[in-house]
Amino acid sequence: MSSLQPRLVIAIDGPSGTGKSTVARWVAQELGLSYLDTGANYRAATLWCMKNGLDLAHPENVQTQDITELITKMPLAQDLNPNNVSLALNGQDITEAIRTDEVTANVSVLSTRPEVREHLVQLQRQAIEARPRIVVEGRDITTVVAPDAQARILLTASPEIRMARRRQQLRETHQDPTKVESDVLERDAKDSALVDFMTPADGVAEIDSTNLSLEDTVTVVLAEIQRQVNAN
Ligand code: DC
Repeated sequence: MSSLQPRLVIAIDGPSGTGKSTVARWVAQELGLSYLDTGANYRAATLWCMKNGLDLAHPENVQTQDITELITKMPLAQDLNPNNVSLALNGQDITEAIRTDEVTANVSVLSTRPEVREHLVQLQRQAIEARPRIVVEGRDITTVVAPDAQARILLTASPEIRMARRRQQLRETHQDPTKVESDVLERDAKDSALVDFMTPADGVAEIDSTNLSLEDTVTVVLAEIQRQVNAN
């Protein structure tokens, strides 16, 4: 892979619990590329709507137009350096704030509305145009945001292993591990309402991480990227 290649977009999709974010960031570090976590965009937009008084706990009271108007004015700054991932709204760091249960519970109010998705897809495409040597991860990167990426991968894992990983994550952060099933499976169901991130689209390589360590997953993903870039 040449460092002279002006455009090198690596698209990685998949559900949560596959290790996708960690793998994508690691790959970006290995290859010296920028890193865009589009889930963090959805989370930042959700927090911005909450801060501006939209009652996302009662989606039936929330007009899609109010969300899109807020997103258009969202003062989001994000550091795309994989060694220093951070986001800010209006200069205020929100890297931690977008990971709360409340934000996680409210994201689907935005992500299940096509007009809202269109706005966020535009933002993501602009970020890619500004830094075209980049690893981009999410749910619809291989299919909608960057179907023309030089390498496209769908990272999967069995529901059992995804729940086990989530359970471990909750334990590490001293949260209640009993709600893990609803956490993972309900979110999958909501998230897949508009986007199919469980089956690979044409030309997208599926990598199943169920029986792989994080390190081995990165090795397999790097080899697949090399293969696709050479073939393109
Ligand atoms: O990957 P994550 O859990 O941080 O993503 C947060 C939410 O955003 C998740 O519920 C699905 C949604 N999302 C999406 O709909 N499309 C993307 N490209 C990325 C995330």
